[in-house]
Amino acid sequence: MKLLGRYLPLVGLLILIGSQTAWASGSVVSKSMDYERARWHPIHFKPMIDQATDEQCLACHKEILDHRVRKASPAGVKADEALAWYETLNTYAGEQETFHRRHLMTPYAKKIMDMKCNTCHQGNDPREETANSSATGRSDLIQRKHVDPNVCLMCHGQFPYKHMGLPGPWPESEKAFHTCLTCHATIRTHRHQVNFLKADAIEAAAKKDSDVCYGCHGGRAWYRISYPYPRHDWPNSTPAPDWAKDRPTESPARFLKPVKAAASK
Ligand code: HEC
Ligand code: HEC
Ligand code: HEC
Ligand code: HEC
Ligand code: HEC
Repeated sequence: MKLLGRYLPLVGLLILIGSQTAWASGSVVSKSMDYERARWHPIHFKPMIDQATDEQCLACHKEILDHRVRKASPAGVKADEALAWYETLNTYAGEQETFHRRHLMTPYAKKIMDMKCNTCHQGNDPREETANSSATGRSDLIQRKHVDPNVCLMCHGQFPYKHMGLPGPWPESEKAFHTCLTCHATIRTHRHQVNFLKADAIEAAAKKDSDVCYGCHGGRAWYRISYPYPRHDWPNSTPAPDWAKDRPTESPARFLKPVKAAASK
């Protein structure tokens, strides 16, 4: 009995580890789980969210990929007759889609990108939606947002033409230079080696259509600034210009993991 008492905490620990690996590898839902427990499920937060698979999130959030846009708005505007300015690039195709489906499900999205739920979702505070309301508030969370806008900025910033010595925005510069690859076949060729992009597919698609590159670098800009991209060395790379002196030379670590894992397989 004495002996069991001594080892009981260890047994508990093993069960805990066991149940956590069960989470990591498979189901996170149980029949006894009520709404609040599901809402506060640790999978929503660090550290568990970093390991979460899309399947685990979708076990509870199937609607994220199932929901489709209305056929018409309440005011009667038909979805298939509506076209926004950012939906006019050559790459835009198909009917109107929800935000999540545009990034995860459409043929074009699947061709060039490989985003996961946790590429964008890194946790938020469901109680107050604010990080700084109390001493125990989590300062690493983004204020009243579910997603850090810097993630969006990577693909929805302005075209940084001044950094390229170009005379003006792409629609003006395009006439003289035709395609991005006129220069980028040899300049900053180490690009897109991250776990949410399909680097080779991007290059292949861009050879046929420059709107592929422009699409993520100014063609659908929601912001007035461009993203300060890391500046990787490339074969025959030149020293960093002044505007790039403080830039990182590698992508953020969380975007590198499975890429490196996949490479060593
Ligand atoms: C066990 C079920 C369950 C799992 C697994 C789960 N969620 Fe949730 N999640 C919920 C519930 C319940 C809510 C509250 C929904 C509501 O109030 O509409 C919620 C809310 C959210 C919200 C909105 C938060 C807010 O403050 O309004 C986001 C974003 C979210 N989940 C993302 C995710 C992501 C990403 C994953 C995977 C990493 C995930 N969830 C896994 C059940 C789950
Ligand atoms: C491209 C980035 C991105 C990806 C990838 C992404 N989300 Fe979201 N998600 C968002 C944004 C932005 C919102 C809206 C946030 C807000 O309202 O503050 C959102 C909202 C949500 C919500 C809240 C309910 C709603 O519809 O607004 C849930 C739940 C959710 N996402 C789950 C998921 C799941 C599950 C996945 C993976 C299958 C996923 N998301 C992938 C960016 C993303
Ligand atoms: C990895 C690159 C990438 C990231 C990160 C990204 N987007 Fe996108 N986004 C795209 C691409 C590519 C399209 C166009 C897809 C197409 O034309 O089919 C798009 C389209 C959109 C659209 C238009 C949808 C439509 O149906 O017309 C909106 C709105 C949008 N993104 C907002 C966001 C927001 C907000 C975030 C951050 C939460 C975000 N995006 C993150 C690449 C990205
Ligand atoms: C006239 C040649 C030229 C053309 C055409 C050109 N670029 Fe560039 N680009 C450059 C140069 C030069 C740099 C900076 C190189 C360095 O970091 O030393 C650059 C840098 C960039 C950067 C990184 C900017 C930053 O702030 O880190 C992106 C992204 C980029 N180009 C995308 C594009 C896209 C997309 C197109 C086509 C729509 C394009 N470029 C067309 C020459 C060009
Ligand atoms: C689906 C969106 C998307 C498309 C399409 C795309 N880019 Fe990018 N680009 C990104 C993102 C995101 C990054 C930053 C990735 C990282 O953190 O390393 C980036 C980084 C870059 C950089 C910085 C490279 C460095 O030093 O790390 C250059 C230059 C660039 N892109 C040029 C291009 C060109 C040229 C094309 C067309 C061949 C193109 N991009 C197509 C999203 C895109």
